[in-house]
Amino acid sequence: MVSFAGKTVLITGAASGMGRAHAHHFAKLGAHVVIQDIDPKGLGETRAMITDAGGAATSFPFDIADVAAIDRTVAEVTSQRGGIDILVNNAGIGIDKVIEDIDQAAFDRMINVHVKGSFFCGRAVVPGMKQRGWGRIINVSSRWAQAGHHMASDYIAAKGAILGLTKAWAKELAPWNITVNAIAPGGVWSQMVLDNLGEEGVRAEEREVPLGRWAQPEEISATLAFLASDEASFITGQVVSPNGGKTIVGF
Ligand SMILES: NC(=O)c1ccc[n+]([C@@H]2O[C@H](COP(=O)([O-])OP(=O)(O)OC[C@H]3O[C@@H](n4cnc5c(N)ncnc54)[C@H](O)[C@@H]3O)[C@@H](O)[C@H]2O)c1
Repeated sequence: MVSFAGKTVLITGAASGMGRAHAHHFAKLGAHVVIQDIDPKGLGETRAMITDAGGAATSFPFDIADVAAIDRTVAEVTSQRGGIDILVNNAGIGIDKVIEDIDQAAFDRMINVHVKGSFFCGRAVVPGMKQRGWGRIINVSSRWAQAGHHMASDYIAAKGAILGLTKAWAKELAPWNITVNAIAPGGVWSQMVLDNLGEEGVRAEEREVPLGRWAQPEEISATLAFLASDEASFITGQVVSPNGGKTIVGF
């Protein structure tokens, strides 16, 4: 069984959905989880869930587009715990809109949360990973970045940039034994998609997946934990796509 005993994992967007599931999963496998989100209430619930189950978590509520807050958080965790071994860039927003309805403020926000947030979290944790000669970065993209979609082009632009970032960092950081991979999930049950599609909308999309359903967040956590483990030591710069077979049947 994979163990993350002694490891510190920073997970962004951990107040709900997949981020919460990842935090719980890593804590169960022995990691100290540093959880971050813009939603302090949900983040508190995630932390309580972890500590009630006997795990260890520290929480930092702030907006992931706030670079100074990222740097302060990583500095604080480094002084308390010696650094961050694993970074999961998960925080995200998603609102399906056609191109005419995406204004400059919405576009900027999309890029800031996904691309700026992921980039500066990476920049903050890399010096410590280089010093220790070990690190894992996992960036959360989306199947839509591989396949396109008839709406949400701002979201897809941001998730596409994350794939580029992943490949660039994989090459740049390989000499320090830091692996960088992306996951591109297909449909996963979460508040974000329920807000966008509603339950009926999700059920309709489930019928198009070869496995006949969307994933539960916990199924994605297992993929992510593998990529973060020593067992995945020769995998870097890859896009792993837990999507129930959806890309097999065409985009
Ligand atoms: N659910 C899906 O089908 C699906 C598919 C592919 C990719 N994704 C991606 O997976 C990730 C997790 O999404 P989810 O489906 O669990 O949705 P979710 O809405 O449950 O979780 C997203 C979390 O990010 C947080 N967040 C939003 N803006 C933030 C900010 N500025 N700073 C800090 N935190 C912020 C939210 O508060 C929330 O807790 C996202 O990056 C999303 O784009 C989701």
